[in-house]
Amino acid sequence: MSTVNSERIPNNVHLSDDKRLQRALEAWQPSYIQWWREMGPSGFQEDDVFLRTAISVDTDGWANFDYVKMPDYRWGIFLADAAPGRTIGFGDNMGQPVWQQVPGEHRNTLRRLIVTQGDTEPASVEQQRMLGQSCPSVYDLRNLFQVNVEEGRHLWAMVYLLHSYFGRDGREEAEALLQRRSGDPDKPRMLGAFNEPCTDWLSFFMFTFFTDRDGKFQLLALAESGFDPLARTTRFMLTEEAHHMFVGETGMLRVCDRTAQMMAEHKKDQPEDLRKLGLIDLPTIQKYLNLWFTLSLDLFGGEISSNAASFFASGLKGRAKEEQFEDHLALAGTYAMDVPKDGRIEHEDVPLRNAMNEVLRDAYVEDCQRGVDKWNRTIAAHGISFELTLPSRRFHRHIGLYAGVYADPQGNLISREQWEARKDEWLPSDADKAYVRGLMTRPVYDPKQMASWIAPPKQGIKGRPVDFEYVRHGQA
Ligand SMILES: [Fe+2]
Ligand SMILES: [Fe+2]
Repeated sequence: MSTVNSERIPNNVHLSDDKRLQRALEAWQPSYIQWWREMGPSGFQEDDVFLRTAISVDTDGWANFDYVKMPDYRWGIFLADAAPGRTIGFGDNMGQPVWQQVPGEHRNTLRRLIVTQGDTEPASVEQQRMLGQSCPSVYDLRNLFQVNVEEGRHLWAMVYLLHSYFGRDGREEAEALLQRRSGDPDKPRMLGAFNEPCTDWLSFFMFTFFTDRDGKFQLLALAESGFDPLARTTRFMLTEEAHHMFVGETGMLRVCDRTAQMMAEHKKDQPEDLRKLGLIDLPTIQKYLNLWFTLSLDLFGGEISSNAASFFASGLKGRAKEEQFEDHLALAGTYAMDVPKDGRIEHEDVPLRNAMNEVLRDAYVEDCQRGVDKWNRTIAAHGISFELTLPSRRFHRHIGLYAGVYADPQGNLISREQWEARKDEWLPSDADKAYVRGLMTRPVYDPKQMASWIAPPKQGIKGRPVDFEYVRHGQA
């Protein structure tokens, strides 16, 4: 079923058998390329970049690695192979055959889910478009572009569903996905974190670690969907997503490694001293972690949600790895929730279906912790006693029960005055941001070099050395 082909839009969905759909997508393609040229990586569109391109869904050899100019990247449509006889694995329709067409009663909800997922993909490309001009190395520059082109492909994946299954509404939504702009006050992207500026590499690594990981869990939940084309699309997207989180996890690991190594070597631990050495001090790393973790927590939606309950009930969106749960109906259970009331925390037992956002967030937090543990082991390996921690889920929230509530990183409720007085200890201050940006004003385009604030990676890409010329910049 997984075929490579030489059509304008590479695909394994037999696009050439459906002329109407093929024409519609070929008509969307120039708008997409125009968007990419306008909003994709600024200043590198004519460079040859050593990129991975999805060409099939075969587990061995699904991708091809070669130099390509980004606007010529072959963004394709690939669905994981169908599982014969697949049935809905949860909710009220449990055990019934999955849907190959959109059930009328779920049409609007499904479209909304797909558009919301789709909107995040171009948004992140827009957020990251200036980063190439401050890259710490050519290796990192290439990884940035790899993430960017694959987010572009994820947009294609969602647009394919919109065009195939949602008729005219779907085509209009596909157009609108190219019209909104991250951070634009008049036509912003749909979700908060995707309108935040991501203009320095510390933010980029935090984004790919925390925000792309929200993507992973949303995709895992959608991969359970009773709407089979959505399940199959998202399953394949997860393959690419893994690399994005690798970029974030190893990026931060290398920053922590470099800082801790120099702390040990120079026997210094004061941020001012470390900044003089061109390093990112650990308290500043903690603040960026606090920011991107909490922005990403918000993406899971409210703790108590009737929408989440109905997505689950109708079989549209499950839990991550639904098969690991015993009870797929989730009608009887409750979830013990901490709810803020009049300045105190009260416990409330919430019907499980209404707590599905929180269940997914639990899995996410656990996954984040595993990465942070690795960073901490790297710091400890240099004999430095400093531990990065995930802040409380009550801290710095803008969605759900803790929106409008002030809490410190430990989760203690505090007054607004206390928050104002201390927030610069917990989140990047203007001075921190200015320092981090200042550290990165000069990009590193020589493959043999690495910025002062980050250790080199352990290995290069696809068997190439670390100092390989992954991007041939400015040679056009
Ligand atoms: Fe994505
Ligand atoms: Fe991603």
